[in-house]
Amino acid sequence: MKIKVLDLSKEYNGKEVLYIDELNFKEGYVYALMGLNGSGKTTLLQCVSGIEAFTRGTVLYDDISSSEFVTKDISVMLQSPYLFNSSVIENIIMGLKFRKLSEEIIQERIKHYLTFFNIEDLLNKNTRELSGGEQAKVALLRTAVLETKVTFLDEPTASMDIESTLIAEKLIRTMAEGKRSVILVTHDLMQVERVADFVIFLDKGSIIEQGEKSVVLKFPEHKLLRQILKRGD
Ligand SMILES: Nc1ncnc2c1ncn2[C@@H]1O[C@H](COP(=O)(O)OP(=O)(O)OP(=O)(O)O)[C@@H](O)[C@H]1O
Ligand SMILES: [Mg+2]
Repeated sequence: MKIKVLDLSKEYNGKEVLYIDELNFKEGYVYALMGLNGSGKTTLLQCVSGIEAFTRGTVLYDDISSSEFVTKDISVMLQSPYLFNSSVIENIIMGLKFRKLSEEIIQERIKHYLTFFNIEDLLNKNTRELSGGEQAKVALLRTAVLETKVTFLDEPTASMDIESTLIAEKLIRTMAEGKRSVILVTHDLMQVERVADFVIFLDKGSIIEQGEKSVVLKFPEHKLLRQILKRGD
């Protein structure tokens, strides 16, 4: 599913925190959304995924203007994911049950996605008893099993160790196969290097640079991005 964003504005308490003139997400790619703290990444993700109402503008999903029609085609992992007060396996399965998928498909998906992280021992544990990184793995799996056309991930690996981060990236790549795409918020430049096809860089609520990863990371035009890339953070 392709997404087109036009003249999008989001205000909080009368103050504009996001303004996007035009932005397009094509099918089959991983888009890395980067920028300093408070630059508007989460706001953009929430507005485009339909979680948060925007003040003005248009978001088109395959040329349809309401996210209500396409909710089933979109999944989101929030920056602070809320896990339900039940077991790990229940949390992973919940979205599939909600979408009324057959027991056979649910079992197939679980079997496939559990091969990514080594969390067999945690499956019957209550999510309240998990470490931060473990919670992030459950939240990512819970999103991945839905196999939606578009997946929004807000700093999914921020609390994961490096080994788990690399596994998560492998999983994220599979979410952008065929016509599916991923919009990934991250501060991790190495991660962008490893998984992204395109980079969108936000500053003070607007896009200051975007394009193919290889071009943006090697030949950044904007001063801020050049400074950041030089420092390596
Ligand atoms: N619910 C809210 N009410 C008021 N202001 C908000 C709200 N959510 C975000 N903001 C403001 O909007 C701006 C963009 O915030 P946003 O969360 O999108 O940043 P971000 O790029 O995701 O930052 P980070 O890297 O810290 O996650 C910030 O100035 C923030 O203070
Ligand atoms: Mg954020």
